[in-house]
Amino acid sequence: MYQPAENRYHSMTYNRCGRSGLKLPAVSLGLWHNFGGVDAFENGRAIVRRAFDRGVTHFDLANNYGPPPGSAEENFGKMLRLDLRPWRDELVISTKAGYLMWPGPYGDWGSRKYLLSSLDQSLKRLGLEYVDIFYSHRPDPETPIEETLGAVATAVKQGKALYAGISNYTAEQTREACQILRELGTPCLIHQPKYSMFERWVEGGLLDVLEQEGVGCIPFSPLAQGLLTDRYLKGIPADSRAGKSWGFLKTEQVTQERVEKARRLNEIAKRRGQSLAQLALSWVLRDPRITTVLIGASSVGQLDQNLECVNARDLVKEELDEIEQILRS
Ligand SMILES: NC(=O)c1ccc[n+]([C@@H]2O[C@H](COP(=O)([O-])OP(=O)(O)OC[C@H]3O[C@@H](n4cnc5c(N)ncnc54)[C@H](OP(=O)(O)O)[C@@H]3O)[C@@H](O)[C@H]2O)c1
Repeated sequence: MYQPAENRYHSMTYNRCGRSGLKLPAVSLGLWHNFGGVDAFENGRAIVRRAFDRGVTHFDLANNYGPPPGSAEENFGKMLRLDLRPWRDELVISTKAGYLMWPGPYGDWGSRKYLLSSLDQSLKRLGLEYVDIFYSHRPDPETPIEETLGAVATAVKQGKALYAGISNYTAEQTREACQILRELGTPCLIHQPKYSMFERWVEGGLLDVLEQEGVGCIPFSPLAQGLLTDRYLKGIPADSRAGKSWGFLKTEQVTQERVEKARRLNEIAKRRGQSLAQLALSWVLRDPRITTVLIGASSVGQLDQNLECVNARDLVKEELDEIEQILRS
């Protein structure tokens, strides 16, 4: 029988999510890769257990995570049954709908039909009565935003989700979404955008909107899927995301330019006594508008290393300037 570490809340930092009542750990764990049917269940289980042992209370899923789609939710449901069920009230579990999940016109994008039936399927796979956060995974240009968000609000009102979230919405769409969700009585808790040293679109307005609206921010792929770690400094390992046929990081994205930047950033990390992954996470967390960084990990060792970013000293101006120079070069 799994017994979580008694000291699990001693060293993690918890940040308030926007102006809500909910606090999230500074580091959250995502199950996009490494937890599907193609992956070793016991490895994923060990990662999840260690995460909870170290104060990671937030686990992020989506209907389509796998492969095959749905299998990450099934596996996490099994982990809940085997290990975590007694601690359900100490966990914040999220899921999403918005990308292709099943064939035909009702298994993709943002209709009410798709979102609500998808959430029911997710709850079955997870073996849960409710998730903590239900997201619209992406805006749908062909569906009225009121319909998509109305479905998320319905999920909250039905008690199938506690909070509403949005992902991949632009700054302008986010402003509108926040107003609609507020009017529906289910305020937007959180936005999940892609953000890392290599992907900085959120700095062009989204973070300002989130601050004004009192909405939290949980950046995904803060390590640029591994490019901002030492993973690719000596080529593409066969067991890496870029090395696997089903990985979303394609070999052509591992460019010489990015690897060279990673190498230079790694020198700054070393001077700080950090790994490159820790530096990349410290850098995203430097902005107080960031609630939590949403990482992935393929081993307990990676997770352990990444969680240490919580104890890192703040980046000083000289370091930030040097990072900026490398990123702009
Ligand atoms: N809302 C959305 O549209 C959306 C989209 C994508 C992701 N997400 C969410 O964000 C989560 C995180 O995304 P992500 O997995 O791309 O995040 P990430 O943290 O940028 O990348 C994780 C990958 O980096 C490598 N890595 C992590 N720590 C390492 C370390 N210390 N040393 C060396 N390599 C390390 C591992 O790759 P290897 O497998 O090569 O070891 C790991 O799988 C997902 O699980 C999902 O929940 C959301």
